[in-house]
Amino acid sequence: MNWESRLYLTAHPVAYPLLRAAARGGPCVRVPGVGVVVNDASLARGVLMDGDAFRKDGPGSPGELWTPVLGPSVLLNMEGDAHLALRRRLAGLFTPSYSAELSARVLAGPLDRLARRLTRGAAVDLVDASRVMAAAVIGEVIGLETRTEDAYRDLFEQGERIVSMVSLRTRGLSRSQVARARAVLDPLGDIAARSYAAGDEKTVMGRMRALGLSVDEARGAAGAFFLTGTETVATLLPRLVALLADSGQLARVAAGPDALLTRAVDEAMRVATPTPVMLRSVHRRTRVGGVEVRPGDRVLIATHNCCRAHGPFDPDRPHPPELRRLWFGAGPHFCIGYPLAMAEIRLMARAVLSAAPLTITRRKAARHVLIPTYEVLAVRSQAAPLPAAARLGSEDGRPERGAA
Ligand code: HEM
Repeated sequence: MNWESRLYLTAHPVAYPLLRAAARGGPCVRVPGVGVVVNDASLARGVLMDGDAFRKDGPGSPGELWTPVLGPSVLLNMEGDAHLALRRRLAGLFTPSYSAELSARVLAGPLDRLARRLTRGAAVDLVDASRVMAAAVIGEVIGLETRTEDAYRDLFEQGERIVSMVSLRTRGLSRSQVARARAVLDPLGDIAARSYAAGDEKTVMGRMRALGLSVDEARGAAGAFFLTGTETVATLLPRLVALLADSGQLARVAAGPDALLTRAVDEAMRVATPTPVMLRSVHRRTRVGGVEVRPGDRVLIATHNCCRAHGPFDPDRPHPPELRRLWFGAGPHFCIGYPLAMAEIRLMARAVLSAAPLTITRRKAARHVLIPTYEVLAVRSQAAPLPAAARLGSEDGRPERGAA
């Protein structure tokens, strides 16, 4: 079994085999207790583009899961004109140039330290390093004032605690889960509100104020960015490096142009699908493939199945149009953080690959996580001198933590 399948199975020992079994049922299949499962990229795109029949708001919708935690107006629980109006106002927020500048500024120090540790021959845990870096970027987005590795690690773990309350079958959060989530998000909202009040247009919160968002909308958006934009990004880097190493492509991509790295990142996203499913509730009677759906039905877009159908990891195989960036969604809810996620991941990947050739010295799949990932993935540069401990024969391959 390849490592990606092992990550999925370790994270979801019961749900993952069921999800894969659903793929064998055809492009669209009704699964009792789960809903209508879509396994085909063209059908998935059709559902995502039809925001009238398939929605994220209202009774029984997936957005309802987050409304008690994030408030009523945070994009991912909105539809129609209100959603469109907010998206329009936020259109200029994460432009590619602003996202690249923000990521480069925030990650400059951590990336430099990461590269230096690799160059001196340390075994570096990319899981810990990418958590720290993803949290550093989202901390900057929110306006976090404490900029230490420990603060970033703590921020990451807080988000992880909320996200891990959700399983592939969760339909709602209990009162105590909502209370626990709010105990994390309310103080973060206060931080975001302070940054908003300061109004510095170089900051994301200051930009939101300039774009005409109210302080409550900015607080809600900060919570949504934190929940959707931290773990997704952090899980990708170790998985990308592992996919490159396991497929024998690491040295070539490391030595290749930026365009090849971008293709490799896109392909790793396709194989890993950090957001393995997307949910919608049906508001109008219609058909998905051969299956009739009715108001109240739940549609589960199995992005992972749609993407896996295209075969194993191969950065040289072009993605067909229906698959294009499906791992970031499609249509009105397409990921608003896409430019930021890509900027962060490209920078992190470039720093790690600059220490090529690399060997994976240790790895382990993570349990009890929503997004399948490694618990540890340690790499060491073969170009570097062996550390003293290894020369003495006592090196156990245990990695150093941290981006620094
Ligand atoms: C590898 C990283 C990421 C992946 C794979 C990813 C994936 C996705 C997907 C699939 C959706 C659409 C969900 C649906 O239609 O049901 C989405 C929406 C969203 N994402 Fe991302 N995302 C990533 C990073 C980020 C980052 C860094 C941020 C923010 C800074 C972010 C913020 C959001 C928000 C706010 C939405 C909701 C948009 C709306 O409903 O209009 N994401 N993301």
